[in-house]
Amino acid sequence: MSRTRTALLAAMALVAGASGTAVAAYPGDVGISAVPCTVDYKVQNDWGTGFTANVTITNNSAAKSSWSLKWSYAGNQKVTNGWNAKVSQSGTAVTALNESYNGTLATGGSTSFGFQGTYSGTNAIPTTFTLDGVTCNVDGGTDPTDPTDPTDPGTGSRVDNPYSGAKVYVNPEWSAKAAAETGGSRISNQPTGVWLDRIAAINGVNGGMSLRDHLDEALRQKGSGELVAQFVIYNLPGRDCSALASNGELGPTEIDKYKTQYIDPIAAIFADPKYASLRIVTTVEIDSLPNLVTNTGSRPTATPQCDVMKANGNYQKGVGYALNKLGDVPNVYNYVDAGHHGWLGWDDNFAPSAAIMKEAATTEGATVNDVHGFITNTANYSALKENNFSINDTVAGKSVRESKWVDWNRYTDELSYAQAFRNQLVSAGFNSNIGMLIDTSRNGWGGTARPTGPGATTSVDTYVDGGRYDRRIHVGNWCNQSGAGLGERPQASPAAGIDAYVWIKPPGESDGASSAIPNDEGKGFDRMCDPTYTGNPRNGNNMSGALANAPLSGHWFSAQFQQLMQNAYPPLS
Ligand code: GLC
Repeated sequence: MSRTRTALLAAMALVAGASGTAVAAYPGDVGISAVPCTVDYKVQNDWGTGFTANVTITNNSAAKSSWSLKWSYAGNQKVTNGWNAKVSQSGTAVTALNESYNGTLATGGSTSFGFQGTYSGTNAIPTTFTLDGVTCNVDGGTDPTDPTDPTDPGTGSRVDNPYSGAKVYVNPEWSAKAAAETGGSRISNQPTGVWLDRIAAINGVNGGMSLRDHLDEALRQKGSGELVAQFVIYNLPGRDCSALASNGELGPTEIDKYKTQYIDPIAAIFADPKYASLRIVTTVEIDSLPNLVTNTGSRPTATPQCDVMKANGNYQKGVGYALNKLGDVPNVYNYVDAGHHGWLGWDDNFAPSAAIMKEAATTEGATVNDVHGFITNTANYSALKENNFSINDTVAGKSVRESKWVDWNRYTDELSYAQAFRNQLVSAGFNSNIGMLIDTSRNGWGGTARPTGPGATTSVDTYVDGGRYDRRIHVGNWCNQSGAGLGERPQASPAAGIDAYVWIKPPGESDGASSAIPNDEGKGFDRMCDPTYTGNPRNGNNMSGALANAPLSGHWFSAQFQQLMQNAYPPLS
């Protein structure tokens, strides 16, 4: 925006602000965008005595490097905690200050934060907000899809958090399988990821839905609101180099095929103007870049296949190409896969992984601006929060880091890892407003075996093992884990730095077959899916902990689905 235009907007804003109620009106009047800022305050959940709310600020005046938003409650609402802003309250007056990572607010830029509060009586939405002392336009009761709404991103400008204020696409194919299970209707309306796990998935496998079918259905589900549709980009050459269960159709050198027959057609469909109103989230190439760091070279965990991919560079090239092409579509939000704490949480892996992600994101024409954020724990089982022990605890003279389970990792759970890795990515050169997603589809670890308090303080091992929710035999186990449950239900802005908890791995779809099954999908038999396997260096030579009788990866596994529901945490009602 030119300087003249900015100055004009600022001048008009004063007029609008002075006329009081005029700023709250909601016409197609273009003059309305002259307000210096817009605030969209939405109560997301309200259970009668408490609530969560999400607030989106749009700055229409000069760029800011920090901000302070204030409002007052008419009722007795009390903010108890916030995320993505420092929210405090004195009497009825609330102040939200930016966090270190979201203080920058460009002209026309927006940012969101959330908080939780208590109240009794009426939970009325505040009517006046000031941003750095200047009164904003309130967008509370209006239609966020109204094209005249200054907070509507429209084509060409991504919102800070696509999940904020949006529904998320429910895949009818997964939903039908879930609903067909006894008790499955309790979760069959949850949003899950759509996996584009082979070229044929673009047109639909075996008469199933094509990418366009999903996008058309997403438009229908969207109605007049906002909607996020989640797609997994998962078809790199030499895919799944440290394991066999999800080896794909492309050989290690087939990078051109990946580009022209997989990424290009997907990008072309996403770019169809028909789909411009959707918020398309992509999660890009699960497990690939972390494998290059941890499973190559002189590491005891190295595999020949990962060494090949490291040597030919096709993982970085493929990821860079995908980010660049998909990032050219203005309503696509790319989230790069960032492993999980039980993989990258060690010092040897942490910074090098962020560095290789930066390398991939700046190759093949991609830039860091093609990356909206990162996703952790995709299809994994790492517990979201371990409340019964922390990394700073010491027991019988030993740090929790010395326990067998933690084994010198810096992180004990996925939330602390995702937040810390986010900071690492920003220091590696990614934008400071990147957001994280955490796949909570199968990391609930509830049910009767869930510990209710810390373990005995006899030793650091009794303490950690007695208290941990994650009941895997080893944190490196990843296939159809026995005892796992559904995790947090998908939700927006759940914690600082986290755009959403998501269910990217569709619960009920197998991680891999527990014995060899011939197939035409390129999938191998990985003994990590065999319950009798005694392990390899990547799981510390432990038993696999896998459920028996599992079908091929991606195929429906009813027994696992039932166990996931049974051990859900939070439990299913
Ligand atoms: C596995 C499979 C893939 C499937 C996905 C989701 O990664 O290899 O085919 O789509 O899981 O279940």
